[in-house]
This record gives sequence, structure tokens and C-alpha cells, in this order.
Amino acid sequence: MGRDAESVLGWRYQPKIIFCRGQGVLITDVDGNDYYDMSSGMMSLVLGHSHPELTETIKEQAERFVHESSWYSNPWAIEFAELIGSTLPGDLKVVNFTVTGSEANEVAMRMAISATGRFDIVSVIRGLHGGSLAVEALTTVGGGRRRGLGPLMIPAKANAILPPFCYRCPINLEYPSCDVACLESSEDLLEHLTSKEVAAIIAEPILVAGGMIVPPAEWLPRLKEMAARWGGLLVLDEAQLAPARTGALWGFEHSDVVPDIVTFAKGMTAGMAICGAVTTPEIAERAAGNLGVPWSGTYPGDPLPAAVALKSLQIVLRDNLTGRAADLGGFLRRRLDGLRDRFECIGDVRGRGLYQMLDIVTGKDDKTPDPAMAERIRYNAMLAGAAFICVKNFIRICPPLIITEAQLDDVIGRLQSAIERSVEGHPKDIDFTASSSLAAAGGPPRVS
Ligand SMILES: Cc1ncc(COP(=O)(O)O)c(C=O)c1O
Repeated sequence: MGRDAESVLGWRYQPKIIFCRGQGVLITDVDGNDYYDMSSGMMSLVLGHSHPELTETIKEQAERFVHESSWYSNPWAIEFAELIGSTLPGDLKVVNFTVTGSEANEVAMRMAISATGRFDIVSVIRGLHGGSLAVEALTTVGGGRRRGLGPLMIPAKANAILPPFCYRCPINLEYPSCDVACLESSEDLLEHLTSKEVAAIIAEPILVAGGMIVPPAEWLPRLKEMAARWGGLLVLDEAQLAPARTGALWGFEHSDVVPDIVTFAKGMTAGMAICGAVTTPEIAERAAGNLGVPWSGTYPGDPLPAAVALKSLQIVLRDNLTGRAADLGGFLRRRLDGLRDRFECIGDVRGRGLYQMLDIVTGKDDKTPDPAMAERIRYNAMLAGAAFICVKNFIRICPPLIITEAQLDDVIGRLQSAIERSVEGHPKDIDFTASSSLAAAGGPPRVS
């Protein structure tokens, strides 16, 4: 741990643990303790750790062909792109590969600006689209992320769409009688905040990091109409959702909408660095040749990650993990709703399929976020052998899709004891403000 602190600059949460092995839904630390991995790595391992067929593919591909110049192609990238296209509706068939999800969203921005000849990129408040500078500008999940970045944020961005956050409605109305009035108010924000040169509206089909905000089904179709009215494209960021996790292969399929550009990352990569932006041949043709489209770089679409991600998606489809996520998601949700009914600190449970979240509050009536309690729960759950991701007052439950009902049941039991310990005030001697998502919390700007 001391060597890590001296030579690696990174976030380190309490309790500090160094992991050295993963198998299925379990990860093991250097002292030999096992933990359920309830974040699937960084939400990437839909098939769990060291899936035997993926291990075999990695070995075979390592012996055959790992990396090449991105000015040429390879059979695995082609087949992966074709398979992705075959799972998407409409004419979404052309993939521009990238290495990270941030980069995929930046490519989507380049495509939209190039194809429309317009500049404003409009995003939804509480959305997260990555950490490289252009997409950081579109990211509005609060905290200290953008502190000090000032003029490095692209000026042609407008964080102008109110989130469809029914639990804490931004305009104090109630669904369904509101008729999704947050969108109508957003139209007014667009009028005042943009230069009326809208290239794209970008959104997550479920706003995950901003609070697992699951929009009403009519929200995305109406967002697409809004984008079209303003002359822009609709870009949907599937980094957290695809494939299969929500009980649909693509998260947006819960709504009747076909976006103009879809970006993918995390779960589509099987933990290898192969992300991308998918669009129609028509938009690709209009975009190509400007603003660095098509994007290439050093690694996008390399044979090793392409072969592994291809195999992973084939398995997801072959084993109907979409149906499995829907079924097990129902079980998980019932158990989490049970915890909500039992504990005053769980204000709400939100999510779809095998991606759920607890909204931790000081009390059910006032709904005041309680990030310190959420951190205590995450900490105690880790001691109980279950690793959850927790940002602010949001604890996410995001297991590999291969988890069994018995394992989920075991995890919920551990989570319940962790909540009981936290309600009793444990741990008493740890300052989370220096070690967790609270370390990046907001507050006034630092003056040096
Ligand atoms: C919705 C969404 N988009 C994009 C990204 C950025 O992906 P990456 O970290 O691979 O750049 C994230 C990362 O958490 C995300 O949640």
C-alpha cells in the first residue's frame, strides 16, 4: 500500500485493498479474501472475470495478431462492427472505433458538427459523458470535476436540458400529470442558452452517474423531436447500459426511438479498450473528411480487443443475457424494494434490469441526500465481502450478468447487514472526505 501511495497517482477508497485475481462474480485481494464484484469492474465485465471462452480467445489472439496500424483493417474489427450494426435499429451500421467512452463521445461530437455544419452541443443536466476535456464540458454531475478547468471547457456547449428526474423533479411537478413538462421548460432554456446552431443533443438513455434517472418512455422520442426541430442530431450514450444490462440489448430500446448516433463503451468491451460511435452511412458520408472524421489514433479497432469484444457480444446474444438481466433484475428489484421499506435511509430504488441504485437520504420525507451514510454503507459492505460502487449518495448494484439468483440473494443479505451496521454509526473513526467520492465533492473554489 505504501509503494502504491508513493508511485501511483490514483483514487484510493477506504478500506484500501489491492486485488490480484478475478473469477466469475468474485474478486480476490492479496491476502486471499473474496468479494462479490458488484460493479463488474468498471461496469465492463458483463460476463464476469476470466470467462473461460474469453480467456481462450485472448490466448489465441495473442498468439496470432495483437496490434496493427490503424490505417488498415482486420477481420475481427469488421465482424464486430457488422455484429453491432445487426443489433441496432434503422440504418445504424457504420462504426468508428475508439479506445475510451470519452473518445467515442468526442467522435460523436465531431460527426454531428461535421454532418450538420452547426456548433452547439446540448447536454442533459446530471448527464456524464466522460473526462477528456470536450466531453467534460458536457458532463454535469456536480462535485469538483470541473473546478479550475474554466476556459478549457469548450464554449459551444449548452448544458440546457432539465433531467427527467421524477423523484426530485426540477420543476416540482408530478408524473404523469406533468406531461413531461421538464422538456418544455428545456425548450425555453435552449432558446436562451444556445446560439441556435444546434449540432446535437446528447443524452444517456438512463442518466446513471447523475442518479440513475430512468426517464418516462415518452422522454427520448420527444427529445429526438426536439433535436430535429432545432436542426440537430440525437446522440445516445450507451456507455453504462449496453449490452443487455437493462433487460434490453441497448438501453434506448425501452423507448420507441432511433437515435442518429449511438456510442458504446464499458460493457461492450469485455474490459478491453475498444469503444466507438455508430451512425448511419448517410451521416458518416456527410461527416467524413472534416473535423478529423473518421477518427483513427493509435489503437482503435486493434485485433486483440476487437476479437475479445466480438466474442463477448456473441456470447451475450447466444446465451440470451438480455432475458436473464430482465428476469434477475425483477428479483433484485423486489429484494431492494424490501430493504427500502425496512430502512429510513433508503429514499428510493431506481434502475432497470441488473442495474439498480439506492438513493441514500437523511429521511424518506425530506429526501435530503446523505452521502456520508452512503459511504458508510459501501465501506461496511466491503468488510462484509461485497464491493459496490458508490458516488455521492448513490449506491449502485451492477453485477456481472452471469450472477445467479442464489448469489444475488447472498449479496443482498450482506448489504442488509452493512446497512444495519451503518445505521448504528459504524465505522466511527474513518474520514471519508479524504478517500471516497466525497474527496471530489463540490464546495467553493479553492483559493491558493
Ligand atoms: C455514460 C458515460 N459515458 C462516457 C463515459 C466515459 O467512458 P471512459 O471512462 O471509457 O472514457 C462514462 C464513464 O463512466 C459514462 O458513464
